[in-house]
Amino acid sequence: MLEVKSVTKKFGGVIANQDVSFTIEENQIVGLIGPNGAGKSTLFNMISSIFPPTTGEIFFLGTRIDQMPAFKVAPLGISRTFQNLQVFKNMTLIENVMVGQHIQTKTSILGAALLLPSSRKEEKVMYEEAMKYLQFVGLDSLYNHKAGSLALGKLRLLELARALATKPKLLLLDEIAAGLNHKETQEMSELIKKVRDTGVTVFVVEHDMDLVMSICDKIIVLDQGMKIAEGTPKEIQTNEAVITAYLGTDIDEEKEEVIGS
Ligand SMILES: Nc1ncnc2c1ncn2[C@@H]1O[C@H](COP(=O)(O)OP(=O)(O)O)[C@@H](O)[C@H]1O
Ligand SMILES: [Mg+2]
Repeated sequence: MLEVKSVTKKFGGVIANQDVSFTIEENQIVGLIGPNGAGKSTLFNMISSIFPPTTGEIFFLGTRIDQMPAFKVAPLGISRTFQNLQVFKNMTLIENVMVGQHIQTKTSILGAALLLPSSRKEEKVMYEEAMKYLQFVGLDSLYNHKAGSLALGKLRLLELARALATKPKLLLLDEIAAGLNHKETQEMSELIKKVRDTGVTVFVVEHDMDLVMSICDKIIVLDQGMKIAEGTPKEIQTNEAVITAYLGTDIDEEKEEVIGS
């Protein structure tokens, strides 16, 4: 479904990704892990065409997408959530999801927000669909609340609902469980599996090792921009290069998670 071929991304002197290659098969949950600054978000940004690679190629369902603008890539069936939430706090939950529906055809989230439909009939259909996605993530009873009134856990669910509203074939989740408590993280794991069971392929960047290890079919590990390992959760847990990469960071939480797993 997705093929990343020898992708390198440079920001001035910083090499954020170096010669990264891998594929993602349809209907899998694939994890992307690595210490902070490893280049995970940069890779997501290239797959969602926020910026192009410096060199290399990315194919989605056989179409080369790395030189396409984001507004052409999204309708092919790629959607994402952002590490730093992109929720409109002054809009209601249902309005936020309806913005997602517009992204199918419009260039940006902001552009979409400004272009909410004028046609009442179209709006009714969209409204009902949006409710379905809120229901899917368990936020339907709050549909009329302002997004700004939600705690982080529910905001992340809202981002997920909005990303799903674009009806993606491939969903990129960038640290969707960051800041969530244990219970919320477990619920998010279940939800991600439920998303996959509806036929959506999921590519997930996540620091929570329990989540990654329990839901992923395959894990790709980046360190300092380079892919250092790829395999099943079991293979990754015992991979020397992976353990070294995590021990080499100064993030205590990450060390403990790897050692403890
Ligand atoms: N837009 C950007 N401009 C300049 N440097 C960037 C940009 N995005 C990321 N970087 C740099 O690229 C490296 C990888 O960052 P990132 O992909 O955000 O890592 P991760 O998501 O794995 O923590 C870092 O050194 C970061 O500072
Ligand atoms: Mg990141």
